[in-house]
Amino acid sequence: MASASHTEMIASVTDQAVAEVDAAQNEAQLDLVRVRYLGRKGLLTAKLKSIGDLPEAKRREFGAAVNAAKSLLTARIESQLLTLQRVSRASALASESVDVTLPGRRNDRGGVHPVTRTVRRINEIFHSIGFDVAEGPEVEDDFHNFGALNIPLDHPARAMHDTFYVDDDHVLRTHTSPVQIRYMKSHKPPFQLIAPGRVYRCDSDVTHTPMFHQVEGLVVGTDVSFADLKGVLTYVAQEFFETDLPLRFRPSYFPFTEPSAEVDIGCIFCEGEGCRICQRTGWIEILGCGMVHPEVFRHVGIDNEAYTGYAFGMGIERVTMLRYGVDDLRLFFNNELTFLSQFR
Ligand code: DAH
Repeated sequence: MASASHTEMIASVTDQAVAEVDAAQNEAQLDLVRVRYLGRKGLLTAKLKSIGDLPEAKRREFGAAVNAAKSLLTARIESQLLTLQRVSRASALASESVDVTLPGRRNDRGGVHPVTRTVRRINEIFHSIGFDVAEGPEVEDDFHNFGALNIPLDHPARAMHDTFYVDDDHVLRTHTSPVQIRYMKSHKPPFQLIAPGRVYRCDSDVTHTPMFHQVEGLVVGTDVSFADLKGVLTYVAQEFFETDLPLRFRPSYFPFTEPSAEVDIGCIFCEGEGCRICQRTGWIEILGCGMVHPEVFRHVGIDNEAYTGYAFGMGIERVTMLRYGVDDLRLFFNNELTFLSQFR
C-alpha cells in the first residue's frame, strides 16, 4: 500500500534523524543534522514537497505525518541543544574554576636591615642631645685616614689596620676617624657630631668581615673634658640598650687620642655574673675613645691651647649583635631572608 509505505518511510527517516540528533557531540554537529533534515533542501522538507505526487485522498494524512515528524525532530533538536549547552558550560566552568577560598597571593613585606636600624637608632639618640650627623668618602687619601690622625708612614699603629690600598696614596678607609679630620678642617669649633658609615679591612673570619660599619663621634669646644665623654657615652649606651647598664673605662692606646680608653659595658646577657658571651668576665668591649691628641688639632689648624675635645669610635655590627642577640657576624651580610625577615 502506497500510503503505508510512505508513512513507514517517514518513520524510518525520523528514527534516523533522531539517532543523529542524539549522537551530535556539539552545537555545530547538531546544526548539520538540522540542515540535513529540516533545511530548505532537507530530507523531510523534500518529503513534504513530494506530496503532490500522492493521490488526493492520501495527501492530508501524509502531510500531517510529515509535519508531526518535523515538529518532533525540532523539539528533539532543541532539547539536545540545551543538553549540549549545559555540558559545555559545565566543562568550561570546571576548567576555568576559581577557588575563592584559596588565600590570596601575598606580597612579601621588606624590612630595614638590622645594621641600618642600629645606625638610625644611634643617630636619633645623639640627635636628641644636640649632635650633628656628618659623612665622608669611603675612598680616602693617606693623610685623612692616617697622617692627620697622628699615624705617620713608619708608625707601628699602621699594622693595626689591614688596609685595602686603591693606589699609592688612596685606601678604602679603615675607620670613620678621617671624617673627624674633614669636619675639623671645614668647621669652626665648638661642634659635636657623629659620623656613621662603612669601613674596610682586609680581614675575614667568624668575627670579621672585610666591610663593616662604625660610628665616629667628635666633640670640640673650649671646655670639653673626659667627664663629658663619660657622661655622654653612659647616657647613650643606656638609651641604646634600654637598661641602666654600668660602663667601665679601661686605659688603652690610640695614636689620635691622649689619654685613650676602651669602654666595656656590663654584660647584658648575664648582668655581670660571667657567661660564655662575655668570656666569664662580666664585661663586653664596645668602643674606643679618648681626648683628641694635640697633634691632631695641629694637623687641622685648631688651636690646641684654646680648645679641647673628645672622640670615640664604635663598631655598629657589634652593638647590633648584642642588642638583638645575633651570634654570627656573617648573618648580616649573606642576605638570608629567614634571618632578615625577623627584622620587619
Ligand atoms: N678608629 C678606631 C678604630 O677603628 C676607633 C676609635 C678609637 C675612634 C678611639 C676614635 C677614638 O675616635 O677616639 O679602631
